[in-house]
Amino acid sequence: MSSDRLDRIRLAGDVPSHIAVIMDGNGRWARDRGLPRHVGHREGMKSVREAIEGAVDSGVDILTLFAFSTENWSRPAQEVSALMGLLQLFAKKEGAELRRQGVEVHVLGDLARIDDPTRSAVDEIVSTTRGGTALRLNLMISYGGREEILRAARILAERVAQGSLSVEDIDEDELAGALFTQGAPNPDLLVRTSGEYRISNFMLWQLAYTELHITDVLWPDFDREHLFDAILDFQRRERRFGRVASE
Ligand code: IPE
Ligand code: IPE
Ligand code: MG
Repeated sequence: MSSDRLDRIRLAGDVPSHIAVIMDGNGRWARDRGLPRHVGHREGMKSVREAIEGAVDSGVDILTLFAFSTENWSRPAQEVSALMGLLQLFAKKEGAELRRQGVEVHVLGDLARIDDPTRSAVDEIVSTTRGGTALRLNLMISYGGREEILRAARILAERVAQGSLSVEDIDEDELAGALFTQGAPNPDLLVRTSGEYRISNFMLWQLAYTELHITDVLWPDFDREHLFDAILDFQRRERRFGRVASE
């Protein structure tokens, strides 16, 4: 796939190795067209495909997509079931193609809350794509950042209680290892669509030094060129991690 932006990304050099995305604005996209919200969610699936292909083409190693938050369980039952249905559809339709592209899918979140058919569809796509080396795709489902940190605290407390971990040995690596992301590299770049300037309980630990790119584009309108724009924006940033700027 040739793209002027892709050429510029390659010339600039450092591609973010991990991009996380808060896919937002499906409801507004539908409302703007006088359509029900679930149509916006369905349309958003095309953008998921675009983002995956854009990530593979630009050489990103990890793409993490926020698909459903712990707070999203409080939406109307009809919308929740439409979203679970789309997740099943995605898992059933995309497994073979993702495997062909070398995309390894991981599903992270409180999966115990998910209904059985959705659970087995996601289990299936995880096993179909296991071993892919082109891109790791994390689908964050029933995921909340605070819940993830609480869960990690419980895991570590349990290990202390059992005597396999001492309190003095609890450090950043131990805590990060007990998160759903299990110590995998933190996102270099966070993209949020639909112009909302907030984190909405996403990856609170992992985003500590992530660069933020917020675009007004609504998720169903998002395509790979928008992802390339976000990468180009990232490449212009100077990451300092609290130190002084390099001369
Ligand atoms: C994002 O779109 C999808 C999910 C949160 C599941 P929204 O459904 O939040 O769309 P808006 O924010 O209402 O436009
Ligand atoms: C964040 O979007 C969750 C996902 C994209 C899955 P929301 O639309 O749920 O977040 P708020 O309500 O605008 O904070
Ligand atoms: Mg929203």
